[in-house]
Amino acid sequence: MLVASNRGPVSYTVDEDEGAGSLRARRGGGGLVSGLSAIGSDAHAVWVCAALGDGDREAVRRADGGLLPEGDTGGQRVRMLDIDAAVHADAYNGIANSVLWFVHHMLYQTPLEPVFDAEFRRQWASYEAYNRAFAEALAEEAAEGAAVLVQDYHLCLVPGMLRALRPDLRIGHFSHTPWAPPEYFGLLPDDIREQLMTGMLGADRVAFLTRRWADAFTACCAAVLGPGSLAGTAIGVHGLGADGDFLRARSHEPDVEERMAALRAEIGEGRRTVVRVDRTELSKNIVRGLLAYRQLLQDRPEWRERVVHVAFAYPSRQDLAVYRDYTAAVQRVAEEINSRYGTAGWTPVVLHVKDDFARSLAAYRLADVALVNPIRDGMNLVAKEIPVVSDQGCALVLSREAGAYEELRADAFVVNPYDVLETARALHEALSMPDGERAERSKRLAAAATALPPAQWFLEQLRALRELQSS
Ligand code: G6P
Repeated sequence: MLVASNRGPVSYTVDEDEGAGSLRARRGGGGLVSGLSAIGSDAHAVWVCAALGDGDREAVRRADGGLLPEGDTGGQRVRMLDIDAAVHADAYNGIANSVLWFVHHMLYQTPLEPVFDAEFRRQWASYEAYNRAFAEALAEEAAEGAAVLVQDYHLCLVPGMLRALRPDLRIGHFSHTPWAPPEYFGLLPDDIREQLMTGMLGADRVAFLTRRWADAFTACCAAVLGPGSLAGTAIGVHGLGADGDFLRARSHEPDVEERMAALRAEIGEGRRTVVRVDRTELSKNIVRGLLAYRQLLQDRPEWRERVVHVAFAYPSRQDLAVYRDYTAAVQRVAEEINSRYGTAGWTPVVLHVKDDFARSLAAYRLADVALVNPIRDGMNLVAKEIPVVSDQGCALVLSREAGAYEELRADAFVVNPYDVLETARALHEALSMPDGERAERSKRLAAAATALPPAQWFLEQLRALRELQSS
């Protein structure tokens, strides 16, 4: 069995402190890696991913027989592809993150963007080359009749290309993002839309995180390729859940306890917390979250000095100017709130930007309210993780545009992510909820959040693909 994704379970940086040429391995971030960590050390599975930077490329050069050292990967068998750096940059930054991510999350400011010009066509050729490199590596690696699970918007063309090379394989594709409705998908040039849909439909089965995204995909197939185009491809839905056992155990390790003590000191005695943890990602809507919190402090002075917004916003995709600008905007708004409302003994927003998993878990444990307000999100695992980990049980303020909304809506304070006033009111209600009710709701949220933990989520997909095979 093979898994293919752009980002793998590990990425390397060259560690200057440790002497020239020493490599430091780190776990990759984001929902895809969290979900797929469930493959564990299954001896039959090989995870094929791309080298993302100089550290990764050096690791590939040193890799024994193409596989990374298992000590670095948590026992997984990982083959990293050293695709030409310029081709990868165009495919990843240019097409995947600046076009496909924007389309599926509906992030374009359409009077100005997108513009499909000669530069776009050049980058598209790189996206094709990068997908071809994956298809060829998978074709070479796969045993007769193997199952291949291709992940996400980076690799939409792989199923079609791989099918042409190896008709014996069983191919699945899984999207960790939303899928755009046909009207928005229609922003893309016609031939590009066709190539994307045909590429995906090369799979025996395509699957999504929620019914809503699966339906949008089906509608796009009908709009772009005509009704009946789906005939050879099955569609599935697998709502990835949080890994409750792992999170509960990991969040009681000494390094998390240490960070809790440090965070408590930053927050101050007896204060309530509104916690959010995200990649600093345009779709996560961090700035409007801060504006809603500011509105709360303005409209409800009784919360001043009594609440702290703990916001962890970890830099992401910093090669793209729009992400760098967004990161700066998050910092600016947080500072504005602190200088407008802060006092000698109270910092209203505690913002941290250095990625630290143990500190994220410490914040989860201290959460009274979790704020998850994305503009659009495939699932959002943070919404599922905080209720599982929070010590006293948390209230969840949740965007109706997150995939997690479908499973968590009953016990969440649901908001329109663009409506800052509504979000501020929801924060007030969440903070005001009696302790007993909050604990009860949090328990129900945690149960719903862990209904399909990663290991089962993964096996479900594999089983569904194998069942197709035998029928
Ligand atoms: C989302 C995507 C993943 C991606 C992750 C992190 O979860 O669905 O494919 O890996 O974000 O983004 P990055 O660009 O850093 O890989």
